[in-house]
Amino acid sequence: MLSLHAAGAFLLLVGLQVQRAFAFIECSVLDYGAVADNSTDLGPALTKAWQECVIPQVTTTVADNVLLYVPAGDYLLASTVTFDDAANWNIHIAGNIYLPFNPDLSGTMFTFENCENILFNGPGAIFGNGWWYRPDGDLTMYPNRPRLIRFQDCNNVEITEITLWNSPMFHVTIIGDNNLAHDMAIHADHIGETDGFDISGNNNEVFSVTVENGDECVTVKTPTNGFTATDITCLWTAGCNIGSFGSGATGVDVQNVFYSGVSVSNSDAGIMIKSYPNCQGTVTNITYEDFTFDAAAYPLYISAFWEGGTDDTGTLEISDVTFNNIKGTGTPTRPAVLLDCNKATPCKDITFIDIDITGTIADEFTNACGSGVSGLEAC
Ligand SMILES: *[C@@H]1O[C@H](CO)[C@@H](O)[C@H](O)[C@H]1NC(C)=O
Ligand SMILES: *[C@@H]1O[C@H](CO)[C@@H](O)[C@H](O)[C@H]1NC(C)=O
Repeated sequence: MLSLHAAGAFLLLVGLQVQRAFAFIECSVLDYGAVADNSTDLGPALTKAWQECVIPQVTTTVADNVLLYVPAGDYLLASTVTFDDAANWNIHIAGNIYLPFNPDLSGTMFTFENCENILFNGPGAIFGNGWWYRPDGDLTMYPNRPRLIRFQDCNNVEITEITLWNSPMFHVTIIGDNNLAHDMAIHADHIGETDGFDISGNNNEVFSVTVENGDECVTVKTPTNGFTATDITCLWTAGCNIGSFGSGATGVDVQNVFYSGVSVSNSDAGIMIKSYPNCQGTVTNITYEDFTFDAAAYPLYISAFWEGGTDDTGTLEISDVTFNNIKGTGTPTRPAVLLDCNKATPCKDITFIDIDITGTIADEFTNACGSGVSGLEAC
């Protein structure tokens, strides 16, 4: 009996030690060639630490058991890094990461491909220095300028507590299922092609984020089935949108989208569903609730013609869209509600409840039906 107890205690002890070790495996980039001198390229050290330290030590599905760790300090990220088939670990950035100006730098600085259960967190920051790549606001000078973070075909990812500053191009793209972005901020110049969050896939969620830029705030792309955004602040953005889908896009499929608790100020648009007149597919069961606008141009806007084109041959069915409790101010030259849909396939069941947007011109409706605002014909 005694010896059995002793053996049990010994096993328990080993078990505890193993558990404790697992809780804090840290693969610091400083041990794999990184220098916090803001001039040594962090890229190769990230790859090396991932391959030599993280991968061999991942043995559970608890992402934060194994950290790819960037400690406090200033780092230069001069090359792109791709984590292919990554699973079950945590990229933990405590430091500040800076992008250099390099006209040849292109692609995405952090790409995760075919990934599963990755935690990407701060409290650090990534500084894109995007202004260098847009001299005098010129978006055409370096058209291949880098983007910041992309999850391509990734599931169960969480990105949080990291601050992103002024990417040369888009900030966060997420493609996949059951992913989560929350409690983080993006601040960029008030200029185009600086999208905050572009998301597609199933059952993705964004909450408690702030985006300041001059383009998409938190936007849904096709295909999407199930998306929730809550507690979103958009400053100087182009709003929280669906689309655009690209000229001639077929098989557009966006459904079961829910936005709630969103504030949009000084924006080019508030809520848009934007498309071309020759797209095909379905956009349905979309709900926008509890929005506050402050100087939003085009507050509520569905347009089959936003991206141009007059070839009104599309069969994109936009239906069952609800705007509920939307308050605030628009701009003096634009309507609060503008529905401009396909002739062949009008927008259907567009419902407005408790809309109080002031400082705009009269609403406009073309090829749409629904209820809740005067002038909109019933379906
Ligand atoms: C790090 O370098 C970048 C340019 O390469 C610069 O923009 C940034 O201000 C530097 N950071 C610090 C803390 O010196
Ligand atoms: C519509 O979408 C919401 C999510 O916003 C979902 O809860 C609801 O079940 C969907 N309704 C239908 C009929 O699919």
